[in-house]
Amino acid sequence: CGIVGIIGNKPVAPLLVDALKRLEYRGYDSAGVATLMDGKLDRRRAEGKLSNLETELSHHPLDGNVGIGHTRWATHGAPTQNNAHPHFCEGVAVVHNGIIENFSEIRDQLKARGAVISTETDTEVIAQLLASLIRNGKAPKEAMAATLKLIRGAYALAVMFEGLDGEIIGARNGPPLAVGFGDGEMFLGSDAIALSPFTDDISYLEDGDWAVVNRDGVEIHDTDGNIVHRTRIKASSVHAQVDKGNHRHFMEKEIYEQPEVVSHTLAHYLDFTAGKVRGIASEIDFSSVEALKIAACGTAYYAGQIGKYWLERYARLPVEIDVASEFRYREMPLPGNQAALFVSQSGETADTLASLRYCKEHGLKIGSIVNVPESTIARESDVVFPILAGPEIGVASTKAFTCQLATFAALTIAAGRARGTLIADEETNMVRALSEVPRIASSVLNQIQPPLETLSRDLARYHHVLYLGRGTNYTLAMEGALKLKEISYIHAEGYAAGELKHGPIALIDENMPVIVIAPSDRHFEKTVSNMQEVAARGGRIIFVTDEKGAAASDLETMATIVLPDVDELLMPLIFSLPIQLIAYYTAVFMGTDVDQPRNLAKSVTVE
Ligand code: G6P
Repeated sequence: CGIVGIIGNKPVAPLLVDALKRLEYRGYDSAGVATLMDGKLDRRRAEGKLSNLETELSHHPLDGNVGIGHTRWATHGAPTQNNAHPHFCEGVAVVHNGIIENFSEIRDQLKARGAVISTETDTEVIAQLLASLIRNGKAPKEAMAATLKLIRGAYALAVMFEGLDGEIIGARNGPPLAVGFGDGEMFLGSDAIALSPFTDDISYLEDGDWAVVNRDGVEIHDTDGNIVHRTRIKASSVHAQVDKGNHRHFMEKEIYEQPEVVSHTLAHYLDFTAGKVRGIASEIDFSSVEALKIAACGTAYYAGQIGKYWLERYARLPVEIDVASEFRYREMPLPGNQAALFVSQSGETADTLASLRYCKEHGLKIGSIVNVPESTIARESDVVFPILAGPEIGVASTKAFTCQLATFAALTIAAGRARGTLIADEETNMVRALSEVPRIASSVLNQIQPPLETLSRDLARYHHVLYLGRGTNYTLAMEGALKLKEISYIHAEGYAAGELKHGPIALIDENMPVIVIAPSDRHFEKTVSNMQEVAARGGRIIFVTDEKGAAASDLETMATIVLPDVDELLMPLIFSLPIQLIAYYTAVFMGTDVDQPRNLAKSVTVE
């Protein structure tokens, strides 16, 4: 979904639609625009594609030189015209990307005070809050500052107020929002791509910022209300779609995009309002299937392995997973009622495709988890589960991985419900927990950079690194080692912590740091014992844990990276972030070609 805002010198409705077209790649299911004309708000909205909105505008044109527009990917409430943005309330118009986590609490309070709620969206509470504050005498700016203190969650916002003809207020916490500077005109947009027809002179708001935009320019406030300056950059107009934003590398940009893209993936599969998985139209009948085969390569394989752990644990579905290059030649028997699932960012990986064809020949139902919906793997599947990560440019996969995990989490809940291993309350708890991922991921990304940069500067001096973990953290250990070796060329291995004493312990000395991924889950104490075995042999430990874990261990470490305590289901999604950033910063210190490491390709279409 996407946001755009224009303070222009001519009617803006067609320009807003043009800008929204450039955000189509992000996916959406309804759209709308609103303008301010002679101090009055008006809007047009339509279900489905932007062409429907254009038809609506051709029948009922909208005048006005100031306006906001939105493409919506339904999270709370169906993609109907009534739920489409902009949302209006007494002279306030709001468009919003993201999820307001405490919307139901706020909605109940508003209702108790007599508010009439007219949509199923979480966004409406923002318009209602702003309107009620203005009714009580606050100026729009004050109302905005107060509202941002009341809402919790991930958001990019653009708001217009009746009576304030030349002004739009934007805010960001999570999903990106850029301010564009034109000649006597000003813009807001979800990214440089949306604004590229108008200007390449932009500045990205930072998390917590809110900005008052008018014809004279922009005044940006941070969370504490201080007026701040954000760097203006020239966005490259050539490949606007693959613009690095303020980032040094695509990989960094893609790591920081995760709160937003993961929220798209989750919203596609989960209905946060109802606390349920959406009806997943699937050729695979999870209620009757006896077993599932998964094949994939590289990072997608590790996503599949976490999927296996989840599907087995929560849905009691037996899963066998192989790297696709082995799967295709193993000549495995495929008896009974089995289905197969293939995980691939590109949807073109040769070994994964060959494995798919092997299963197809054997009559299995085929599902795929892909990022490119028009890819060969998607086309040859009976059912496609899109991950909606947007274009991934960095060769080392990051956001595709967490979006694959988000998809597996949703499939796990769907399968658990279908198989009767999860009850409705458990489904709701899991959906609610997952709705917090974008916010938590965003705050983690904002906080862990300094300690990880310091750590990575140290790591760059070593030639070998060992990663350890148990359960899904074992998979993250392997994914962490893969990331590090891919882009920094430092030799790294990921091992099950319980296997340490069956081999790798022989390697422990002060020359091989050991990264232990151990949040306080049900494996924690056992992993800490393994960590003690490392310490006893003079090994240097980098402890990646959560607050409870940090409080429970007093071992001396080379570094301790502390993340917030989260629900166990969320751990792989959240703990992926430090794992990716350790590899990224180490590679930056090593001076390698981070986005295109030597010898590696993004899409491996050969065996
Ligand atoms: C290559 C890429 C990896 C990716 C793997 C599988 O090795 O460098 O980042 O994980 O292929 O690619 P796929 O497109 O099938 O997910």
